[in-house]
Amino acid sequence: MDMQRTYIGDLKAKVGSEVKIAGWVDVRRDHGKLIFIDLRDASGKVQMVALPNHADAHKAANTIRPEWVIEVTGKVNERPAKMVNKDEPNGAIEIEILSLNVLNEAQTPPMDVTGDGMEIGEEVRLKYRYLDLRRPRLQKNLNLRHRFIKELRDYLDKEGFLEIETPLLSATTPEGARDFVVPSRLEKGKFYALPQSPQQYKQLFMIAGIEKYFQIARCFRDEDTRGDRQPEFTQFDLEMAFVQRDDVIAFIEKALIHLVQTVTPEKKIQEVPFPRLSYKEAMEKYGSDKPDLRTDKNDKNLLAFCWVLDFPFFEKTGEGGWTFTHNPFSSPKLEHMEWLLKGEKIGEILTTQYDMALNGYEIGGGSIRNNKSDAIKAVFSVMGYKDESIEKNFGHMLEAYRYGAPPHGGIAWGLDRILAILANEPNIREVIAFAKTGEGRDLMMNAPSELEAKRLKELGIKLGK
Ligand code: AMO
Repeated sequence: MDMQRTYIGDLKAKVGSEVKIAGWVDVRRDHGKLIFIDLRDASGKVQMVALPNHADAHKAANTIRPEWVIEVTGKVNERPAKMVNKDEPNGAIEIEILSLNVLNEAQTPPMDVTGDGMEIGEEVRLKYRYLDLRRPRLQKNLNLRHRFIKELRDYLDKEGFLEIETPLLSATTPEGARDFVVPSRLEKGKFYALPQSPQQYKQLFMIAGIEKYFQIARCFRDEDTRGDRQPEFTQFDLEMAFVQRDDVIAFIEKALIHLVQTVTPEKKIQEVPFPRLSYKEAMEKYGSDKPDLRTDKNDKNLLAFCWVLDFPFFEKTGEGGWTFTHNPFSSPKLEHMEWLLKGEKIGEILTTQYDMALNGYEIGGGSIRNNKSDAIKAVFSVMGYKDESIEKNFGHMLEAYRYGAPPHGGIAWGLDRILAILANEPNIREVIAFAKTGEGRDLMMNAPSELEAKRLKELGIKLGK
């Protein structure tokens, strides 16, 4: 009978036995009579040796090259004491190759995939992302991402939250960035917008009586890409009914502390409860609304979370009007509600918005929502929207809030940002499997790309020059 495959990560427990393993050739070192091959699979890496007394295996070992896919039967031996490598999980064992079967050859890869890849250009790494992802650093990051999200889901499930998906083909939402749009074939000349966040849907869940919602939500924003920004990114999005600001803050803080302690126990949180600063204080003391409060910036395991509160609701636009600083659906601080409804002291109105910063990055933000139709309308009036345009764009929200809307609030984290910091990575693309380049391109799939004339016609689109 065919021998069962053993994962390389499980070999340590099999000293003395014969095993079958399979994977990718990491490196081959030819010492004449002895040929050493490091073999890699999803669970780890192990050193193997081909000896001249197993003639067929030795001959086969001579032909193979890095990244070939092979299957090996061999004996798990303990290494002599002076050969033990304490830094490697399998550093105390070695596989004596008894037979070697090539499952698939490989061309020479366009870049080295065994190192951390930091010195290799983005173009090559992202074009050949399926090879780039072979490097241990990225495998580790994807593993961290999986464990963090799984722990988060389990935690919220225990707390009685429901994970619900919301549409991707939707209408424009005012989050402050440009929308990506998708043309409609059935209604030529009309467009869907991809969501910048599930904001409106999650508020409607509260009116629907869901009370505790969350989602690991893909969001889309047509803005310039940079180290902590991708056009397509993931939020951990949450909303709760019958809560006030400090309830959300306390809940989120507890969840985050649990996650850090469980998923990355090597990290130290600098201060608990997380310090709270007003926007004014943060700007005056640190010149930033996402201050880096770390006492030792060289300590890669130090996490300095903080909350930033009491932002102005509105700011002046270039044209002299007003626009929201964070979220038009937020409630102003209750003591400023009168000013909003009367359209007075606009610049002095503060919002219930809370932002969350970690080591100098904005990792999340949320607020208590405005749950009265008149007050929601007042926000858009301050921004210069005419009644007709408010009705057209937000009429569904104004109406929904007339059917019994509980007090509610929530938050969204930039999951990619949190994960990049936990993984000690300088750029969020290192924790996103198929990330886009600085120009927002997917070099592997060649997106965005042109549409055939036939498809354009079907969509009723004529391109301008
Ligand atoms: P906000 O716009 O602040 O709030 O977004 C929440 C968090 O998402 C992250 N983020 C991004 N991450 C990567 N790439 C991007 N382009 C990008 N844009 C934002 C940031 C940010 O803090 N609906 C509200 C949340 C709420 O009020 O509940 C919202 O989207 O870490």
